[in-house]
Amino acid sequence: MRGSLLVDHIGELVTNDGRDGDPLGIRRDAALLVEDGQVAWIGPARDAPAADRRIDAGGAAVLPGFVDSHAHLVFAGDRAAEFAARMAGEPYTGGGIRTTVGATRAASDDDLRATVRRLRAEMLRQGTTTVEIKSGYGLNVADEARSLRIAAEFTGDTTFLGAHVVPAEYADRPDDYVGLVCGPMLAAAAPYARWIDVFCERGAFDADHARAILACGQAAGLGVRLHANQLGPGPGVQLGVELGAASVDHCTHLTDADIDALAGSDTVATLLPGAEFSTRSPYPDARRLLDAGVTVALATDCNPGSSYTSSMPFCVALAVREMRMTPAEAVWAATAGGAAALRRTDVGRLTPGARADLIVLDAPSHLHLAYRPGVPLIRQVLHNGVPR
Ligand code: NIG
Ligand code: FE
Repeated sequence: MRGSLLVDHIGELVTNDGRDGDPLGIRRDAALLVEDGQVAWIGPARDAPAADRRIDAGGAAVLPGFVDSHAHLVFAGDRAAEFAARMAGEPYTGGGIRTTVGATRAASDDDLRATVRRLRAEMLRQGTTTVEIKSGYGLNVADEARSLRIAAEFTGDTTFLGAHVVPAEYADRPDDYVGLVCGPMLAAAAPYARWIDVFCERGAFDADHARAILACGQAAGLGVRLHANQLGPGPGVQLGVELGAASVDHCTHLTDADIDALAGSDTVATLLPGAEFSTRSPYPDARRLLDAGVTVALATDCNPGSSYTSSMPFCVALAVREMRMTPAEAVWAATAGGAAALRRTDVGRLTPGARADLIVLDAPSHLHLAYRPGVPLIRQVLHNGVPR
């Protein structure tokens, strides 16, 4: 949309500019000017410039759009029965991933595309303006490549997760599967991928396999992120730090050495409380990470197995209530933290030059996201400066 747009009468503007020691960089009684899809100016409402169009925020809070840095949206079918069994006491093992692989392989391109479109629209309605999308339910050359090709229709942050689990047909020869992932599968996936990811966990890929796969991905020009320390302690977090990963995700079971490694690095710890909620597992200790100086992000992990939520506001509420993050820390982690986890500087903040991705809340303050859980507080979303 051409022309300028003024968002006026903002009671509380969260900029994330880190100014004056306030990570959220809150401005009161502010206005924000959008030009060419970017933030062109912010300042006191009384100094607001003229513009072609105007949105009156009516004293409400305005935040950067959420940056959901971890989502598995390319899949078919659901696993509601597995969820019901877990709520009746069954543990989560990740074994259900193979069920989704079968359904995904059998689905048409249009079915997969329709699912991504539906979930992406769900996310946008809940304030998410940037999303990372992983493959990982194809697990053969053709289905991983098409998963990423479809994901790339919706985001630039696409992640090759051919190493999600070893598919059934390779169950007795995992080394051969690692060779497939590093060879023809990576070659077919890389043109559509920005990142490479591995599920480094007992029952999935061990440290040696993960290191080999991530190194191949790096050599092909992909950035590293990984699923680490979700179901138990393990080598994933320290491996991620060693390889300069942008983010290690889950971080549910951490030793002091894991925390020290993260604190001395620029690797982000991405916490996915929807997974602990939906698998009825203990939550990660966000306080311990934050107090050690680790950069923390929040994401949904949206997938049909361990966390079938597309809602960042829900994750913010869980982080505050269950992981002892302050509302300010949780909002920062869901916006600027997600941007850091994707190594993006154009999103997750509302400062001049940033993308005009923002949320007008139906509330006077960011506090209400956790204070009013489950309430649809997203009044309006601007994506690239365009009202959605
Ligand atoms: O991040 N942990 C591995 N992958 C997903 C779960 C995928 C599934 O259960 O289908 C996760 O939780
Ligand atoms: Fe995941």
